[in-house]
This record gives sequence, C-alpha cells and structure tokens, in this order.
Amino acid sequence: MMEKRPFVSLEQIQEMVEKFPTPFHLYDEKGIRENARKLHQAFAWNPGFKEYFAVKATPNPFILKILKEEGCGTDCSSATELMLSESCGFSGKEIMFSSNDTPPEEFAFAHKLGAVINLDDITHIACLEETLGTIPETVSCRFNPGGIYTISNGIMDNPGDAKYGMTEVQLMEAYKILKEKGAKHFGIHAFLVSNTVTNDYYPMLAKTLFELAVRVKKETGIQAEFINLSGGVGIPYRPEQEPNDILAIGEGVRRVYEEVLVPEGMGDVAIYTECGRFMLGPYGCLVTKAIHEKHTYIGVDACAANLMRPAMYGAYHHITVAGKEEEVCDHKYDIVGSLCENNDKFAVDRMLPEIAMGDYLVIHDTGAHGFAMGYNYNGRLRSAELLLKEDGSVALIRRAETAKDYFATFDFCDLLKAY
Ligand SMILES: Cc1ncc(COP(=O)(O)O)c(C=O)c1O
Repeated sequence: MMEKRPFVSLEQIQEMVEKFPTPFHLYDEKGIRENARKLHQAFAWNPGFKEYFAVKATPNPFILKILKEEGCGTDCSSATELMLSESCGFSGKEIMFSSNDTPPEEFAFAHKLGAVINLDDITHIACLEETLGTIPETVSCRFNPGGIYTISNGIMDNPGDAKYGMTEVQLMEAYKILKEKGAKHFGIHAFLVSNTVTNDYYPMLAKTLFELAVRVKKETGIQAEFINLSGGVGIPYRPEQEPNDILAIGEGVRRVYEEVLVPEGMGDVAIYTECGRFMLGPYGCLVTKAIHEKHTYIGVDACAANLMRPAMYGAYHHITVAGKEEEVCDHKYDIVGSLCENNDKFAVDRMLPEIAMGDYLVIHDTGAHGFAMGYNYNGRLRSAELLLKEDGSVALIRRAETAKDYFATFDFCDLLKAY
C-alpha cells in the first residue's frame, strides 16, 4: 500500500495560519510543474500535442498562468472560463471551447476569442451559424459511441446514458454539413469515462477515435487534423490505488497511432488532451482545523461547501492529521463539517491518530474539482486559495470570501448595506 503523505508539513501550516486562517485550499507549484512536464514528455512523440487544461477543475488565474508557462492551453465550458483564459493571455487556438447545452452568446464569445469550438450536437451547427453568421474555419465534433464502454479489466462507464456527444451517424452527417458550409479544419473529441486509474483507458479511447477518424476520412473525405482525448485520466485518491503511469499511457497511445493512423497516411494528426484532475488533483489539499469533538465526530472548520465530493458522490479523500504522520491510526472518527445536511462528512468511520482540538487536518487530493465545486449553502463562505511556491514561500492566490461578497447581489438595495 502506498503511503500518502501531504506535500505540506505541520510547521509550514503553523506559519501559514498566522496570516491566513483555516480553512484554505493549498496548491503545490513544484508538483504541478513537474507533473505537467511529465505529461509533455509522455506525448513528445507527437509534434502537434497540446494539453488544454480543463479550467472547470481549478478556475484560478494564478494556476492557469503556471500551466501556460508549462505550454498548456485551456479547455473552457462557459463564458466566465473563457474570460479567465483571456485574462491570463490565452488566445486563439490555445483555447478549446468544449461545452454542452451552450447558450448562443457563449458561442459568439468563444468565436471572438478565436477559440476552437467543439460541437456537442449536430443541431448546434444551425445555432452556431445563426449566431455567428458563419461557420468557423476550424471546428470539432464530440463523439458518443453509446452503449457500455469496457476495457480488458471490466466495465468503465455507460456513455449510452450520457447526455454528451453525437452518434457516429450524426457525426458523419455533421462533418459533411460543416464542410459544405465552409469549415476547413476538423477535429474529433470524446470524453467517455471519468477518473480512470488504469493505464489502458487513453490507449483504448485512442483506438476507438483513431478508427473512427479513418472511417470519417473514407466516408466524407475529411481528414481530422486533431483528435482530442479530453479528460478522464484519474488519480489514486485511496492509498491502495496504483497511480497512473503517464509515460506508459503516452507510449500506449503512440503504439495505437502507429498501428491505426500511420498506415492510412494520417501520421500528421495532432493529439490533444483536456486533463483536469490528473493535472491538479494531487497538487492541492484542503487544510482545516478540528474545532469540536462530539462522541466519535470531529467537527472541523471546513464543510461540504468547501469540498463537495464526499457529500455528493461519497468520494474518498485521504486525511492526514498534520504532525501526527508517524502515530498509529487507532481511533475511529467521522470528520464532519457544519452544514445542516447529514451528508456533510469528509470521512466516515475513518481510522486516524487521536485528534486534539486545534489539530490541523490535511484533506488530500482536492486540487481539481475541489474549491471549484464550492457553494454558499447555509451562508457558508468560500475559503482562500494559497500557493506553496517552488522556493517554499506562500502566496495568496484567492482571498477568502467575506459577508460583503455573499451579499453583493443585493447591492441594488440598501437592506444589507451594514455588512
Ligand atoms: C469536456 C471536458 N473536458 C475535460 C474535463 C476534465 O476531466 P478530468 O478532470 O477528469 O480530467 C471535463 C470534466 O468534466 C470535461 O467535461
């Protein structure tokens, strides 16, 4: 079993809380950069490779800037994510707009920035044309193979149930219509399974999409210029899980590329990814303080409004009591937040060292889809986000919300002016 150790020590936390009270999300710049470099190394065999970081995972401009320096673009799903990208200097083809049920004005904004638009449905072609008055020269279509998606070690997910993407018949038709309407450069996209902890998912998905690209070429005469494997590469939330080996994954995709695309004269197709969780998940944690003990419940100062995954999906997040890494885990606790919701539990029946009031708990792997899924139920405020920089110093990269922020949408009247 892999031991999961936080990237931050008790001493560092004690120093941080002098300036920034708990709870806060903390990110590890060194880990983020090293991981991004490894991803690029894994796909270095493909000259057109680009990772479009899924902004929804960690929508913070300081994180986006780090990823930009590492050569990434962004994948956006909404107007505000597009704004974040633009504000960080991403432009044109550095932005992928992979959205669904898209408001027309967001197509317009994405087009204005020169982003590559990835269409979720054949019916969106008419909406796009009507909104823009034209069809962009570069356009991508999202594929959904339907049915159950399986790989050698079992069922992965059920795309047949998912609202995303087009069937193969729709996809073929969509490309023909787009070409007729003036599109010149085409891409194929699919996101079939979330949080895969196996080296087989990307190569398997690549095979599905590469074979599809060959059929598209034969049926429509269109050669895809890029194939976007999207997200879904997971992380080991549990200590007993074997982490993905991104170098093995990149090599697996290369093998399928040589096998399927190269013999068809398609050896110049660029591979794109839209990883979120894999890029940031392990390089963020939620630091919170034990403030109450009631029977076997430890109440902390964070709640599901700061990290929704355990309450929403029963997701496991490993917890370390800072400074007690070497102590035996001989106490069984539920670690709970303050929401008036009984599912506001970061852990249930978790074996941990004895916890004293005032101890700091590090909730692991919150770097992606953590802060981002935050909300304000019970009037709880969003926490700060901090960055542990490569030189060991700490920077505030988002301040904590205040009551004033919470009441900001009443600024048209005087009722809450006092706060
Ligand atoms: C279109 C799209 N791309 C990429 C991602 C990122 O996925 P992950 O965080 O699993 O890598 C998502 C996540 O929901 C998505 O919807």
